[in-house]
Formats: sequence, structure tokens, C-alpha cells
Amino acid sequence: MNAIAVTDLHGNSQLYELLLRIVDLWKISSVFISGDLAPGVYEPTDISIVGIEEALDHQRTFFSDVFIPLFEVFLGRHLQTHVYAIMGNDDRRANESMLQEFDRTTRNFHLVNDRMVEFRNAKQIRSFFPGEVPRLFVAGYPYVPIGGGLLMDWVKHENRVGLMPPGMESLMDIDSSGIRTVEPRFDSTIEEDLTDFPSYLAKWEPGTMFEYDPAHTIHLFHAPPYNTPLDQIAPQGRYDFVRLPDHIGSSEIRRFIERAQPYLVLCGHCHEAAVLGDYKTDIGATRCVNPGSQTHINVLSIVQFDPYTPTEMKQFFINVQ
Ligand SMILES: [Fe+2]
Repeated sequence: MNAIAVTDLHGNSQLYELLLRIVDLWKISSVFISGDLAPGVYEPTDISIVGIEEALDHQRTFFSDVFIPLFEVFLGRHLQTHVYAIMGNDDRRANESMLQEFDRTTRNFHLVNDRMVEFRNAKQIRSFFPGEVPRLFVAGYPYVPIGGGLLMDWVKHENRVGLMPPGMESLMDIDSSGIRTVEPRFDSTIEEDLTDFPSYLAKWEPGTMFEYDPAHTIHLFHAPPYNTPLDQIAPQGRYDFVRLPDHIGSSEIRRFIERAQPYLVLCGHCHEAAVLGDYKTDIGATRCVNPGSQTHINVLSIVQFDPYTPTEMKQFFINVQ
């Protein structure tokens, strides 16, 4: 059980420090972070230009002064530990280049937004014992369907036909409302991206693709699959005649998991699911995990698991005090 999944720490430096202390103590070799890395501020009240710039600046300072130095020192002293991370819908995409640069200069930090890398722990074991463990990969997809947030950097339509579960239709439009800190490079939906995921990944990193096989790939999504224990929120009741949904995940990510049956899915986004629903569920033969987030009460929610028998796992809630 030498891997840990965690998500949505939202810039809580005490929880990041606690996480790394645990990684050190428990001799963890692989850490997966499913997005919302930086503090979410000024939302949803301040959407003026000043507010947008301040929020971007605030997150940039968090990455440059807290996140990167913390992981740089830790990973420099723990060369066998590898961190795999994606950003989330609360993370301003304009700061993605800072993390990409950190990835380029740090051999054991892997930013897997829209890309796939080899799972280093399996590579190390296989270099000594080739038949011992399978060759595995890690792929990341940080996008969420439109919901309540104003930041649209990581928001996409589920599909072209507007097919979505009842009550999920948002009053907001991705293109005409909300905030973007970068322009989108591709106009595509979650359904289109995941229907031909290898081609989608290749668009971002032409020529560097490994042969994609979902059965050998750990998938990091920010959005959980729709209508599962992993995307459960508190009962929302009704708005006039419309019954509001008690789930906030992605129906297209769920369809993808049902169809492609990936090796393992790690997600986040829905903080309360680990308390109201569950931290794990199986879709067909695929184990899906959302460690949840209790960062607002200084509690670290983590799931420890065996990357080679991914159904073997344990959940921990650890208080900072
Ligand atoms: Fe979050």
C-alpha cells in the first residue's frame, strides 16, 4: 500500500505539510493529487477585473512561495517518491506554465493536465523484476461540466446535443459568462475528448504519446463520475417544479469509465462525497476513488492504496493538530 490519493487541498499549506510528513513516515512512493491545488479566493462575489487579477496573483504567489518550494525540497530529499498532479476548476489556468516548468525541472513531479506519463514506481520495479508488476501509465483530464463556479478555465460542455441529467442545465454559459484567464486551445466537449482520448492527448503533446491503453492507465479526473457515491452532495430540494440534482459529477466521464474500463480512476471536486456518499465505488470492473476534502476544518482526507491491487485501500481522516 505505497500510494496515496488526495484532492482539493485548496492551498492549505498545513495540510500539504502534513501530507508530506505522512508520505515520509509511511514511505509512500506515489502521490496522486486530483486538482484544486491553490487557494480559491474572491469567488463568487468579486468578478471585477481587479478581483480577477488579485485572485490570479494570489494563486501565483501560492505556487511560487509555498507549493513549489515545499515540493522541491521534499522531492529533492525523496528521490524515489513521485508526485502526479492535475489542476482543478478553482485553479487559474494562467498559472499552469509555472507548474509545467516545475515538472520540466523536477524529475519526480509530474503535472499530467491533458497528458500521460509512465508510472515510475512500476518502471523502477520492472527494471529489476520485469514480470513482477505490469507496465502502467498515468493520464490526467482536469475538466468539469458547467456548474456553480464562475471560473471557466477548466469547464467544458458535456456534449454537443446538450444531453445531460435532469436539473443539470446551468443558467450560465461557458462562452459568454464567467471568468477565463486563458483562451481555450481546442473547442471540444468532454464527450468528444474522451471518445478518442489518445488523439486528444496527442493534440497537446504531438509525437510524445505512449501507446494508450485504458486497462494499463491510472486516470486522474477532477470531476467524479455522475450519480455515484463519489459526487454526492447534500439534498438540494426543488426550485419551483424542478427537482435539483444531488450529484455534481460528469455523466460523460461516467460513460467513458463504463465503456473503456480504465485500470483505476482517481478524482475529486466534490468535497463532501467522502462523508455523504463514499470514497470509493466500482463502475463495472473499474475502481473509482474520490478521497474528498475537509480542508476547511484542517482535516486531511487521504486514501492509501496498493497500485498493483487497486481495490486494496484504506481511508484516513487526519487532523492537523
Ligand atoms: Fe474543490
